[in-house]
Amino acid sequence: MKRIAINTGGGDAPGLNAVIRSIVLASHQLGWECWGIRNGFNGILEPEKYKNQGGGIKPLSLHSVKGITHLGGTILGTTNKGNPLKFPIQQKDGSFIDIDRSQEIINSLKDHAIDALISIGGDGSMNIAHALAQKDFQVIGVPKTIDNDLDNTDATFGFDTAVEFATTCIDRLHSTAEAHERIMVVEVMGRYAGWIALHAGVAGTADVILLPEIPYDINAVAKKIFEREKSGSHFSIIVVAEGAKPLHGNFSIIGKNIGQSERLGGAGDKVAKELEILTGKETRVVVLGHLQRGGMPTANDRLLSLRFGAAAVRAIAKGMTDMMVSLHSPNVECIPLADAIGKRKTVSLNHDIILTARELGIYFGDELSFIQE
Ligand code: F6P
Repeated sequence: MKRIAINTGGGDAPGLNAVIRSIVLASHQLGWECWGIRNGFNGILEPEKYKNQGGGIKPLSLHSVKGITHLGGTILGTTNKGNPLKFPIQQKDGSFIDIDRSQEIINSLKDHAIDALISIGGDGSMNIAHALAQKDFQVIGVPKTIDNDLDNTDATFGFDTAVEFATTCIDRLHSTAEAHERIMVVEVMGRYAGWIALHAGVAGTADVILLPEIPYDINAVAKKIFEREKSGSHFSIIVVAEGAKPLHGNFSIIGKNIGQSERLGGAGDKVAKELEILTGKETRVVVLGHLQRGGMPTANDRLLSLRFGAAAVRAIAKGMTDMMVSLHSPNVECIPLADAIGKRKTVSLNHDIILTARELGIYFGDELSFIQE
């Protein structure tokens, strides 16, 4: 009999609940028990906050995971604050210092007679999982992020849902763009990786896609729009990744809160303002933002999540630790956590989808050669 703790960390992604349910069900088949940690590791690090909610770490019954496979969000809650490896503590003078509280987590898990931890999250959470596994505790990671930027897995769950939603939105913008003969700029998430912009932009037949991986020349984008005008297309759809940046320019960073990553925003607005001036065409911006993270996971994401959850329990049963479940199509395998962290998976410039897009006449803002005056 084993007792497994589960936590979800970082930004939420559609499919988290499906993973949790899969872990609880697969564990139950083995006669094991599951416990859930609230809001990342905050349920352990700030227990007083959860006193009136039955505690920051509590048992997960079969009943508590009933009917949640199709639900967005996470029944455990999540946070992208309070990394236990660099937990910000405020000093008397108001400044903050980071302290490592990972041993407190291990101690608490042992106090609750927990034998193993399944940690579901993105790059940050996998880093923490790897650090906890170094403390002689059995840990398995499950990769999540709508950004799809985790290395050494073909995909993370949440990505397919985000792409599906963004594509639907781009489809809807075509008719209004054409009716008003406008430029419609759509900003999508993805942080410093352009996967959502690339997949949704190509599937949604955008005219221009601006990615973090390909710094853009705004004058060249304007020329592409003039070219479309000449050929009789009086509207354009421009998909802008939130991490897109101009040639010789910077990412659009709104700020950084204590203990959190940089927040990106405004890339679409910048492109729209400049294009309106350069082309004289009416331009509107739509920022899809957190809508991409909400709602029901697609069937693909649900399936991947259920496979990941069951594979994580299988890995624990085999005595594995410091590993992450990962999709190596067609199989779900286990790879060392160390191989998944530290390196962001970005779009390579010779990726088949980039080549396909170029062959279809979609422009990435990176070269002037296509423009023949
Ligand atoms: O990493 C997932 C993600 O949704 C990114 O695409 C985005 O930049 C970020 O999280 C937004 O984070 P927050 O929820 O803190 O605004």
